[in-house]
Amino acid sequence: MEILHTVAEMQTRADKMRTAGKTTAFVPTMGYLHEGHLSLLRIGKNNGDDLVLSIFVNPAQFGPNEDLASYPRSLETDLKLAEQEGVDAVFIPTDKALYQEGYQTYVQLDKLPGHLCGLSRPVFFKGIATVVTQLFNIVKPRVAVFGEKDFQQLAIIRQLVTDLKFDISILGGPIVREIDGLAMSSRNAYLKPEMRPAALSLSQALTMAQEMVHEGICATDVIVEKTKRHFAQHSSIEVDYISICDPSTLDGVAAVEQDSLMALAVNLDKIRLIDNRILKGKK
Ligand code: PAJ
Repeated sequence: MEILHTVAEMQTRADKMRTAGKTTAFVPTMGYLHEGHLSLLRIGKNNGDDLVLSIFVNPAQFGPNEDLASYPRSLETDLKLAEQEGVDAVFIPTDKALYQEGYQTYVQLDKLPGHLCGLSRPVFFKGIATVVTQLFNIVKPRVAVFGEKDFQQLAIIRQLVTDLKFDISILGGPIVREIDGLAMSSRNAYLKPEMRPAALSLSQALTMAQEMVHEGICATDVIVEKTKRHFAQHSSIEVDYISICDPSTLDGVAAVEQDSLMALAVNLDKIRLIDNRILKGKK
């Protein structure tokens, strides 16, 4: 497995792969790899003949009061896991390699960031769209894989690839969960055992909502009210949003008639947890 740190090394490798007719599949991450990330690597493996992973904790997507400094890191374990998954190359740039002195170009979308996580994290998607654009230009993949865990991020990347005419197929991977239902996340490392019941209330709320729709209770305000009451059982939970929306535009819907996205974000003693599920509508 090759490990590359500079933009020039990575671009030279990418050009060689293209000349050799290889299909590079790419999985961008911020490291601290778990089964969710590994599932994306497996999708990449099955959809290309060269697999590249990037590990970069992107400062541009963290707000001033967010957890950039404490974001969990474990490079040695990450490299072992990557090797086991058959990764061909790992790109690990420094902050300065991507945001050199005098850097001033940012990629911003008009509408999609105006929903869900974008409302409470104003720089988040600008930082993501910018770094992913850079990474696409450096890794030059034919295929890139993103998780549905970050549903809004996946929607934004699909839009960005369409708008900026990147010749890259974007694949989505389903949410990988712990046995008890908790969506896997690098930030779960912050959770103390006593926080587990509160953390589990997100996936429980999504299951409850799907059951309500099955029973014919489709009005968004009724489902949201029930979800709020479910979260209120845990005093440590501070709700950021409970949204039921159109999966393509992320605009809110009044009722679950078509398949709709239910997306949740809460802070649990300052630890941000998100989860989502497509609620199957009757139509
Ligand atoms: P990170 O949070 O490390 O996630 C990397 C990829 O793994 C993302 O596509 C994310 O959706 C996916 N992922 C995380 N948890 C998952 C789970 N439980 N099941 C399935 N997929 C999961 O997302 C980022 O990094 C960054 O924003 C990045 C795209 C790398 C840009 O900096």
